Amino acid sequence: DWTPASFVHETVEQLKKQIGDAHVIMALSGGVDSTVAATLISKAIGNRLHGIFVDNGVLRKNEFEQVLDTYKQLDLNVKGIDAKQLFYDKLKGQSDPETKRKIIGGLFIDVFHEESKKVSGVKFLGQGTIYPDVIESVSVHGPSQTIKSHHNVGGLPDIMHLELVEPLRFLFKDEVRKVGRELGIPAEMIDRHPFPGPGLAIRILGDITEEKVKLLQDADHIYIQGLKDAGLYSKVWQAGTILLPVKSVGVMGDERTYEFTVALRAVTSVDGMTADWAHLPYEFLADMSSSIINNVRGINRVVYDISSKPPATIEWE
Ligand code: XMP
Repeated sequence: DWTPASFVHETVEQLKKQIGDAHVIMALSGGVDSTVAATLISKAIGNRLHGIFVDNGVLRKNEFEQVLDTYKQLDLNVKGIDAKQLFYDKLKGQSDPETKRKIIGGLFIDVFHEESKKVSGVKFLGQGTIYPDVIESVSVHGPSQTIKSHHNVGGLPDIMHLELVEPLRFLFKDEVRKVGRELGIPAEMIDRHPFPGPGLAIRILGDITEEKVKLLQDADHIYIQGLKDAGLYSKVWQAGTILLPVKSVGVMGDERTYEFTVALRAVTSVDGMTADWAHLPYEFLADMSSSIINNVRGINRVVYDISSKPPATIEWE
């Protein structure tokens, strides 16, 4: 019978055999899958696992520091790379969603590749691939076209001539979470909502500036923390804030303002393929609206997205 404990035990044994005394390099994202995969690999080979976590400048507020801190708690050998400026420079003036995705995916590979050259004896690339990713990547190459190109590290093994280590390849998400709990990974990390690889870059409609990122990070932080405080975070499948490329008129004291609008998004879903907008309580939405407008200078209007997927998508880009 499958139990998280037996899975951990057998997988660690298998990893020891597969990897031998070689070194493994791995990109970590702060998400559930890569964290669980890295923890398993680390249990098998210790510091011969070399994790890399890149700050691409479009993470959530304080996310880089918090995630690195969790890795430290888990005793994972992970190096944090601050590449923010590199990403901002390349993203400057770019407003097409697919272009933004390609820039972020491409730069990420460059940064990762550069870092990997500093580690000797690397023979393997660790990845947090789970079963649904395996199926999806098969269908991507089939007749049904993907609508959005997804940022992943798929191009890395070919460039780097590395063999793959994918301890979660046959697991579904709920099993990954059970394994993660078995490994003692904090609940905060295990129960995180999915977050897209291109991060806040696809939640800032149009071009990206550091100032816009800061605005959105602040608004998003209020919203996500609000969901947690109200006990709503675990009731929705994914939530986030979108910065719209329009300014509108408002009034503050006796002054007219002309500032940005953010849209709040929250959906219920099973796998992200279809999704319903979450019917969050009006009182909660009212609270978020005033908290964001009163605390984030530069935003004077908050709207709630009441579109389901299909025909809308979860993200706005
Ligand atoms: P959509 O917007 O297509 O999103 O309904 C479905 C799920 O996929 C995530 N998503 C992405 N994840 N790179 C990612 O890693 C991307 O480019 C990307 N685009 C969308 C989205 O957050 C949702 O969970």
